[in-house]
Amino acid sequence: MKNGIALTGIKPSGTPHIGNFLGMIKPALELAKDYQALYFIADYHALTTVKNRDELKKLTYEVAATWLALGLDPEKVIFYRQSDIPEVMELTWILACFTPKGLLNRAHAYKAAVDENLEKGKDSDEGINSGLFLYPALMAADILLFDTNFVPVGLDQKQHIEITRDIAQAINGNYKKEILTVPEAVIREDVMTIPGLDGRKMSKSYDNVIPIFESSKEIRKRVMRIVTDSRKPEDPKDPDEDNVFAIYKHFASPADLQRVSDGYRQGGLAYSEIKNALYELLEGEFAQARESYWRYMDDFTYLEKILQQGADKARMISQPKIEEIRKAIGIE
Ligand code: TRP
Repeated sequence: MKNGIALTGIKPSGTPHIGNFLGMIKPALELAKDYQALYFIADYHALTTVKNRDELKKLTYEVAATWLALGLDPEKVIFYRQSDIPEVMELTWILACFTPKGLLNRAHAYKAAVDENLEKGKDSDEGINSGLFLYPALMAADILLFDTNFVPVGLDQKQHIEITRDIAQAINGNYKKEILTVPEAVIREDVMTIPGLDGRKMSKSYDNVIPIFESSKEIRKRVMRIVTDSRKPEDPKDPDEDNVFAIYKHFASPADLQRVSDGYRQGGLAYSEIKNALYELLEGEFAQARESYWRYMDDFTYLEKILQQGADKARMISQPKIEEIRKAIGIE
């Protein structure tokens, strides 16, 4: 018996790195063991910024291939593409009519765009599309349409879940009926702490990532580029201050972890050695997934089939739910 519904949206953002894997993908796959998971590709959210047709399509397939390659089982997880669920759009409008405009004015992403304009002496809304403004309402629809109990997200999305809760409560309050399930955020604190090659948070914008699906050669090159201090092999080192160890510890077995951290503390461990060990671990973890990924990326027809099957399952939930909501608000 599952403990409830866990739902999250994945905004396509290019080829994934091990920070994405540790921070989001792996915990989400774990969560799917105990909850009925609904994971979807948020392509309509991506449309707020991605305006190139081929790019949007490719980004969508990349997400699908990534998750399948890394072990998502589409028989167990309902895995779909947001735009295949028309009920999401209908609910977005309904929710918008219960969303105070001021609440959206204060949403971080929109507010940051406005502040940036003002700082540059521009008109406050210059270059900002209404989709970006309504982004939180669309996200609330994603969540509320499926009576979601838990939403695993990074800290940056916390406010969006709070907005979702506010909207759900406003509707339930107005109709004096528990029409919508008020969801809870499950925040992954550790998303922030996975360092990249230079020790800052691993992020594409810093160009400090270790990609998952690049060639072994490229991954090796990246690992060798991890910044270390100039201590010699014989010098004792603190493992918790080393960038290589900070990544290594997420992949090593407990026994190896013990042996290696002793090696750091006692001296005698060269950075080149631990880098090699990390590279080997990453190969062990991802070599097979890499093959699957490229196989999927060569077979969009297959990916389409999987996404369609996911959408069929999702709509078994969303269709009766939208009917229920329509009835409750007097639109039938
Ligand atoms: N906005 C989320 C992000 O940028 C993606 C997303 C869209 C989402 N809809 C969602 C996450 C619903 C959780 C639930 O990462």
